[in-house]
Parts: sequence; structure tokens; C-alpha cells
Amino acid sequence: MIDRLGRSITYMRISVTDKCNLRCRYCMPEEGVCKKSHFDMLTEDEMITAVEAAAALGIKKLRITGGEPLVKKNIVSICRRAAGVEGISEVCLTTNGILLPRLAKPLKEAGVKRLNLSLDTLDPQKYAYITRIGTLDDFWAGLEAAFDAGFEKIKINAVLIGGFNDDEIVPLAQLTKQYPVDMRFIEMMPMYDSGDFDEKAFIPCTNVLDHLPEALPAEQDGGVARLYRLPGAQGNIGLISPVSAHFCGECNRIRLTADGRVKPCLHASDEYSLKGLDFEGMKRVLEEAIRSKPAWHGDLDALHRSQAGRNMNQIGG
Ligand code: GTP
Ligand code: 5AD
Ligand code: SF4
Repeated sequence: MIDRLGRSITYMRISVTDKCNLRCRYCMPEEGVCKKSHFDMLTEDEMITAVEAAAALGIKKLRITGGEPLVKKNIVSICRRAAGVEGISEVCLTTNGILLPRLAKPLKEAGVKRLNLSLDTLDPQKYAYITRIGTLDDFWAGLEAAFDAGFEKIKINAVLIGGFNDDEIVPLAQLTKQYPVDMRFIEMMPMYDSGDFDEKAFIPCTNVLDHLPEALPAEQDGGVARLYRLPGAQGNIGLISPVSAHFCGECNRIRLTADGRVKPCLHASDEYSLKGLDFEGMKRVLEEAIRSKPAWHGDLDALHRSQAGRNMNQIGG
């Protein structure tokens, strides 16, 4: 479907759970999420009906997110059924990687095309700090499992955090020489509650290029990242700059939360509920949500925090 500004909306991100097996400091509180009643969350059947309704409106690509999507017990079945919906050409998934040793193969067999993994640091102690409860070895085991299962074009996401990982831009970028992966640096978005990080922690993506003078512009892939490449690398460097240079003019996406709300924009408070509706009802509401998609998300900085009204783990990025 084309929105009122002429943007073709072909991509839906579905957050299947707000729970996570890590507690990244910029993403969710230490105590985790408040337990919600099952009645408030979309059932698997409702998720698939929502995908069918979205596909009927022209959605072709799905990205499954969380929280951490792999902590959802029926994740393989959700992916398999979503990939089988007519009109859906690609199901991708964004994960912290921890559960991939168990799930990479079943996900591949279920029809998941590509994986994006999150990794903010190469230092085991800093990894334990930023995730509060994670172990870097578990991340590497997850990445290996993804390769073993046959996933290609894996992307690794690092949120840029001043005073935390700005001294690791070069070694993180070098991962593109060691592995066939894209390494993407993301500007931290000031969410409703971004934990301990104030404006000093924000680093614009342009800083990354200052550290990588040998990086050359690469062929663009139509995604949210601007792509560069190091000489001799197997994958690209990507810069995702929602704060310093927003990409709302080319935005092709809507979002669906685990509690069944359609968000036409990541940073707007508008939400449209699909909970309890049938195919026709969901299609009508999705159409209304796409029609109401705002032109852009407004300024994002310390004074203008996201208007999303939720933390990142409740939206899925
Ligand atoms: P592919 O292009 O399919 O690889 O997916 P992606 O890059 O959109 O997905 P991913 O889940 O890896 O997200 C990477 C980062 O981009 C996360 O920090 C997201 O929050 C951010 N992001 C993705 N879509 C948008 C968007 O529409 N607006 C903003 N502001 N940020 C986004
Ligand atoms: N700003 C930017 N990226 C974020 N992510 C989570 N919270 C934020 C934030 N406040 C990233 C995760 C993951 C992706 C889906 O979103 O690190 O890679
Ligand atoms: Fe979990 Fe991802 Fe949030 Fe970290 S960024 S707490 S891995 S959902």
C-alpha cells in the first residue's frame, strides 16, 4: 500500500515478545518486564492472521524482533507459518544470538532467510556490563551456529555509546575482514527510558568514518544503513543514523507489537489495536494505520526523547 506521502509500505516488523534473556542497559530495565496477562498478548493464530492481512495490503518482508524473539517458545512455528503466507517473500529475524546454538537450524528449516545479531563490544567484561547478565562466549557460539546452519549475509548491529565502545570502532569494523558479515553502527535513540545514558553518550555515525579513513562507499542495498567497505573485507560497514540524519522520507515500514498494537512510526505514540479482530478487521485497522503514518519522527535528542511511549524491548527497534 502507498501511504499519503507516496511511500510504499512493504515491510512489517513484528515484536513477538517483550521478554529477553539479556538486559541491555539502553534497552530495558534491570528487573525485566512486568508480567502481562496472556489475554493481552497476540496469540500465534492472531499473529499469522495479522501477517495475512498485512500481506493483502502489500507487505512483502517481515522482520521478527523482540525483546528477544528466540525466548518465545513457539518461535519456530511462528516463523514457519509466517514464511508460508502468500505474498510474503522474506522472513528475517533480529536476535542477540544467545539461543542460536539450539535454534539456528530449526529457524533456517522454517524458512527464515536472514539474521541480524546484536554485539556492542568485543570485550567480555564490557559485554557482561552492557547486557547486565550476558556472556560474550555465548554470543560467539551463536554466531558460529548461524554460520553452521547456512545463514548468509548476517548483519551485526552495535549501538554506538560514547565512553563505552567508541574506542572499539576499528576492531568491530575489522570483523568484516574476519567474517562474511556486515558490521553496522547505530546511533543510540533516546527512548522513554534509555537507562544510564545521557546526551554525552550519543555519538553521531559520522565519527565512525573518522576512525576508518580507508573505508570506501559501497553499493547500497536499499536498507536503513549507508554502506561502506574496508579494502579486502568480506562484508560492508553500515551506518544507521536515525538521530543525526533520519531516513523517514524513505521509510517503508510499520510495526506490530507483542500486545497487538500497530505502530505506524517507531517514535510516535499512535497505536492501533489488532487484538481480537478477524482478518477483515485487521486489514481495515492496518490500512488506517498506514494511512496515518507521520511524515517523520520529529527531533530526537536529550530534550526531545522518543514519543514512542515504550522502551525498545516493547517495540523491537
Ligand atoms: P534489514 O534492513 O532487513 O537488515 O533490517 P534493519 O536494519 O531494519 O533491522 P534491525 O532489526 O537490524 O535494526 C537495526 C537498527 O535500525 C535498530 O536499532 C533499529 O531500531 C533501527 N531501525 C530499524 N528501522 C528503523 C526505522 O524505521 N526508524 C528508525 N528510527 N530506526 C530504525
Ligand atoms: N537506540 C538504537 N538502537 C537500539 N537497539 C536497542 N535499543 C536501541 C536504542 N535505544 C538496537 C539493538 C538491536 C536492534 C534491534 O536495536 O541493539 O541490535
Ligand atoms: Fe534484549 Fe536486544 Fe534489548 Fe539487549 S537490545 S535487552 S538483547 S532486546
